[in-house]
Amino acid sequence: MAEQYQFPDGFDWGVATASYQIEGAWKADGKGEGIWDRFSHTPGNIHDDTTGDEACDFYHRYEEDIRIAKELGIKVYRFSISWPRIFPDGTGNVCEAGIEFYRRVLECLHKNGIKGAVTIYHWDLPQKLQDRGGWANREIVGWFEDYVKVLYARLGDLVDTWITLNEPYCSSILGYWLGGLAPGYHDYSAALEAVHNLLLCHGTAVREYRKSGLKAEIGITLNMNMSYPFDPDSKEDAEAAKLNQLQANNLFGDPIYLGTYPEELFTYLKKKGVVLPEIKDGDMELISQKIDFFGLNTYFTDHVKKDPSVWPLEGVSLKTGRPHTDADWEVNPQGMYDLLTWIHGRYKPQKLIITENGAACNDWINLEGKVEDPNRIDYIHRYLMEVHKAIKAGVPVAGYYVWCFCDNFEWAWGLSRRFGIVYVDYKTQKRTPKESAYWYAGIIKQNGF
Ligand code: FCB
Repeated sequence: MAEQYQFPDGFDWGVATASYQIEGAWKADGKGEGIWDRFSHTPGNIHDDTTGDEACDFYHRYEEDIRIAKELGIKVYRFSISWPRIFPDGTGNVCEAGIEFYRRVLECLHKNGIKGAVTIYHWDLPQKLQDRGGWANREIVGWFEDYVKVLYARLGDLVDTWITLNEPYCSSILGYWLGGLAPGYHDYSAALEAVHNLLLCHGTAVREYRKSGLKAEIGITLNMNMSYPFDPDSKEDAEAAKLNQLQANNLFGDPIYLGTYPEELFTYLKKKGVVLPEIKDGDMELISQKIDFFGLNTYFTDHVKKDPSVWPLEGVSLKTGRPHTDADWEVNPQGMYDLLTWIHGRYKPQKLIITENGAACNDWINLEGKVEDPNRIDYIHRYLMEVHKAIKAGVPVAGYYVWCFCDNFEWAWGLSRRFGIVYVDYKTQKRTPKESAYWYAGIIKQNGF
């Protein structure tokens, strides 16, 4: 008989989304321009030349999406707030229509018996703030403080879980150094400046939350992944893999949970000529305040080969020949177990929620009107087996959210990468739950498989 995988009572089975990727309505009702509006409107940035102007039109269709989520038995719906919908100019006047929209979404979720997990920042910075330096300007801490205070005061009564930031690694290293995400820069020192400012904003959001007296849980979502040496016998690859992991994982996990930046990485970077961020008195205390859960996004593993031509970390992540999804990310479920136990060992968070995991597949509607996506089912199935194994080994995982509820605008990949368990026809905006959605509904029902 096949082994039974039973999850802990009350396990939070969810789905995740993000404002710019699903909302569309990019300038409706007074919304300001965000950096993703600017980035996607600039020719050459998006692989398939699409934009998020309309995306899944969640702004007008949230009731339908939430009804589908209810039918599937989804317990938690994660979404993010668009900062430029609340502060069109980044600071100053609050746009009431923005507040009203998110109140309606939260009320609709509750009416349908679904909890709302709200990400405060999932990459759509007001362009007006980017024009003033964005994440590389320390003044952003004050702008963010004003923003979170409005959210707590105006939405706090309806939010079940708060997530301060989504993947600060992407907002900093990818946005300011590798350049594939908005704002699309290539400046390593500015990227580190952004890291520090993002973490200060996280700390500020936690401090203000505790002051607000609200009682829901607050945490952060970090993307992490294991880095293994490409050649397990090579000392050089092992060193390169270590640096890669220090930048991907420890650069964010250490300050938040241990109150320090990874010394080894900073010493190395300094030698490479990188200007390190200025750390002021009180910064590390602000960053390392107690949070209620660790939100983890993870999709793949890195297999790193030493390459001295790649400044500053001198490593490249190479393919290993494993199967890969349509995002060209290799499927390596063991990485989920290794990572969960690594996080548990190093940071001992009191609670962990997997706030994103999932697969992009080449889906279409077949002659019978169905979307059959066995690879996505297999991917989620395998990763959940590893989550279960980690829980059995003592890692306190309390929830799992599939990325994504529906197909959407996948950043620089535009509309061409489908991550949803619900198919979206972008011409008609028709939603069709895929086979994976029904399969996931079954798991939720049984609290396991
Ligand atoms: C994560 C992002 C999310 C989505 C998935 C595929 O890095 O947080 O918005 O794009 O990847």
